[in-house]
Amino acid sequence: MQPDVSAVILAAGLGTRMKSSLAKVLHRAGGAPLIEHVVRTALAVAPPERTVVVTGHQADQVQAAVSHHGIRFQFQAEQLGTGHALAVCRLQPGLDSGLLLVLYGDCPLLQPSTLQALLDAHRRSGAAATVLTARLADPSGYGRILRDPEGRVAAIVEHKDATPEQRAIGEINSGIYCFDAGLLWPRLERLRPSPVTGELYLTDVIALLRQDGQFAVPFLVGDAAEVLGINTRVELAEADRILRARKARALMLDGVTIEKPETVSIDLDVEAGRDSSIGPFVQLLGATRLGPGARIGACSILVNAVVEEGAEVLPFCHIEDSRLAQASRVGPFARLRMRSTVAAGAHVGNFVEMKNSTLGEGAKAMHLAYLGDSTIGPRANIGAGTITCNYDGFRKHPTTIGAGAFIGSNSTLVAPVVIGDGSFVAAASIVTKDVPPDALAIGRAHQVNREGWASARREKEKEKPGQS
Ligand code: UD1
Ligand code: CA
Repeated sequence: MQPDVSAVILAAGLGTRMKSSLAKVLHRAGGAPLIEHVVRTALAVAPPERTVVVTGHQADQVQAAVSHHGIRFQFQAEQLGTGHALAVCRLQPGLDSGLLLVLYGDCPLLQPSTLQALLDAHRRSGAAATVLTARLADPSGYGRILRDPEGRVAAIVEHKDATPEQRAIGEINSGIYCFDAGLLWPRLERLRPSPVTGELYLTDVIALLRQDGQFAVPFLVGDAAEVLGINTRVELAEADRILRARKARALMLDGVTIEKPETVSIDLDVEAGRDSSIGPFVQLLGATRLGPGARIGACSILVNAVVEEGAEVLPFCHIEDSRLAQASRVGPFARLRMRSTVAAGAHVGNFVEMKNSTLGEGAKAMHLAYLGDSTIGPRANIGAGTITCNYDGFRKHPTTIGAGAFIGSNSTLVAPVVIGDGSFVAAASIVTKDVPPDALAIGRAHQVNREGWASARREKEKEKPGQS
């Protein structure tokens, strides 16, 4: 962060080509709204109190999305062009001196290192403005860079206004600039509406600076993908792909194994410890954290999940807002949600759902169970088909299962209910009363065996006429 640098991010437009009722910069790529990526990049070089987002369409939502960064906002009531969008920021504190970066809110792939390189180039050249440019195979739609014989920027011509010769130019304006603030503001006031669109073009400032004896230089970006501006959902998907590829790559370089990295989706704030491993088609979303050596099997989806050191998620699990403690194991085909915890060494098997529940250390629920609003003690064993009936149609109720308790298969535990430490519940019981510690609870009809009943029945059937 540099104290003499300020940044203005233009984000007032609706983004008509998205064909959406949501403002363009709120669409998500790489696990965050587009505007979030741009704000983070700006904050790598500019202090938050000198970073301004220009809002217009859905200003409240855009502001809410990034206000946690402590940045400033400028409302642009009418979108009269990029030049106008910057001009309305004139009275924002701190923007009148030093260097002013302009970024577009729909350009999420720009990297902080590139922004820094732009600043460095600007300081070296002594120019009034430095324009980040790129060479594109298909430059259509973008403003074109007209260079003078010294290689400086003579002017930027918008595609709509360009002659066929100018349209043949492959070098485009990315919309990212560094200005000498003191030289910029007086020229912004002199912008005149485009005769074609009626908009005030920020790009016309370059020609005005030259008229006054100042100069602007281009700074050609190495990787043109960094300046991809999102206008359609096709470009949104492309940006998402690139952001996720970058994230996977960063994790791999940090010591995380990722199998088929092109298939995984990892949000930007996800953390993963050394020697953790991530299988194909895994999605790690939100604030998910993997400890060292944690393993996530193929096709599992984790949202705000914590998987501690050495814990394992087998394939095809869905885990949300939940925690797996050290060396625990979950899955395959398990669902954990709403602050569930699997304590150290505990195991959750296939087709088990846990909601707002804790499975104690070394406890097991290996097959086909629903554990809701329950607290299960260490080393307890939950048999296949166990159901906590936590909802009576009006309210949710808790189930407590003591340490070392054994819940027989297909038991129905009607909450609120407490199963004491070390007790047994016989298979297929319906438990409606608390079970004392060390007791056996049997809550089912007694079995009756009728010797010889089957053959007697078969004989009887034979005597009936018309049966085959
Ligand atoms: C702009 C550039 C063009 C460049 C291209 C790169 C101008 C005149 N043209 O064109 O040279 O190649 O970006 O992507 O600047 N915005 C506002 N308020 C406004 C108008 C726009 O905040 O009144 C914001 C938009 O929300 C958007 C950004 O500015 O984030 C760019 O505006 P847009 O209309 O998309 O400009 P382009 O036509 O793409
Ligand atoms: Ca654009």
